[in-house]
Amino acid sequence: MKIALVGSGNVATVLGRLITTNGHEVIQVISRELEHARILANELGSSYTDLSGKADLSADIFIVAISDKALEHFFTGSGMGNKLVVHTAGSVSIEVLKKISAQYGVLYPLQSLRKEMQLIPPIPFLVDGNNEVATTYIETFAATISSSVKRAGDDERLKLHAAAVVVSNFTNHLYAIAEDFCNKEKVDFNLLKPLILETAYRIQYASPSEVQTGPAARKDIITMDKHLRLFAAHPKLRTTYLRLTDSIMNP
Ligand SMILES: NC(=O)c1ccc[n+]([C@@H]2O[C@H](COP(=O)([O-])OP(=O)(O)OC[C@H]3O[C@@H](n4cnc5c(N)ncnc54)[C@H](OP(=O)(O)O)[C@@H]3O)[C@@H](O)[C@H]2O)c1
Repeated sequence: MKIALVGSGNVATVLGRLITTNGHEVIQVISRELEHARILANELGSSYTDLSGKADLSADIFIVAISDKALEHFFTGSGMGNKLVVHTAGSVSIEVLKKISAQYGVLYPLQSLRKEMQLIPPIPFLVDGNNEVATTYIETFAATISSSVKRAGDDERLKLHAAAVVVSNFTNHLYAIAEDFCNKEKVDFNLLKPLILETAYRIQYASPSEVQTGPAARKDIITMDKHLRLFAAHPKLRTTYLRLTDSIMNP
């Protein structure tokens, strides 16, 4: 298929690589900053323009991967000629594209994507369309770049996006405050990395609630008290520890 990418950030870049690796052609990159469009277009071997330029209407799909805020007011100078247009956001309604084309939808990659990543991880895609023809087309395309494709409307996509924030952004924040604690207390955070991986690995095969361990799960007040005294000089970590302990003890 012929694909045009709108945007040149993390998602446009990783999807562009995935799309070309799987035998499709990226024919155009359109981005607000012409220089950003040029850099990605050069990598993918496509033409490029900024938002005031002419969209290449030989594209089968326009994938709009721009910031959530920008999506609400998105337009291009020349329009998209009622071609199929999809966005890639988890928490933005499919309907923001209504004013852009008569054929629109969503191609949401349920993964954390960074243009710096060397290897593209498995990416489940949540797909949606404004009619059955559009949905089937997007679904069929997604199946050529991923082995995990599911139809999901705005509500389901938003719920999974919220859960994704908890499992990815929040766990990473816990790593960050634990690393800060280790650095300040002069112990080696690196020694915790096998434990981080084992915890993530375990829930591939068990429900997280079934494999919850630690002093809060055991209601071990003595150990928790030792930890809280240690955290006296780390108020942010102490507050987080208390809130999560309460959540584990009162499921
Ligand atoms: N990154 C992820 O892990 C991830 C995963 C799933 C879904 N998403 C979704 O994918 C979309 C893109 O995310 P991203 O991570 O690729 O963002 P990003 O790396 O920050 O890139 C943002 C892109 O939006 C463009 N942009 C910003 N403001 C704009 C405006 N006012 N008008 C037109 N274009 C504008 C930028 O263009 P210029 O650089 O040319 O200014 C840039 O190409 C978002 O909806 C996000 O929620 C992201």
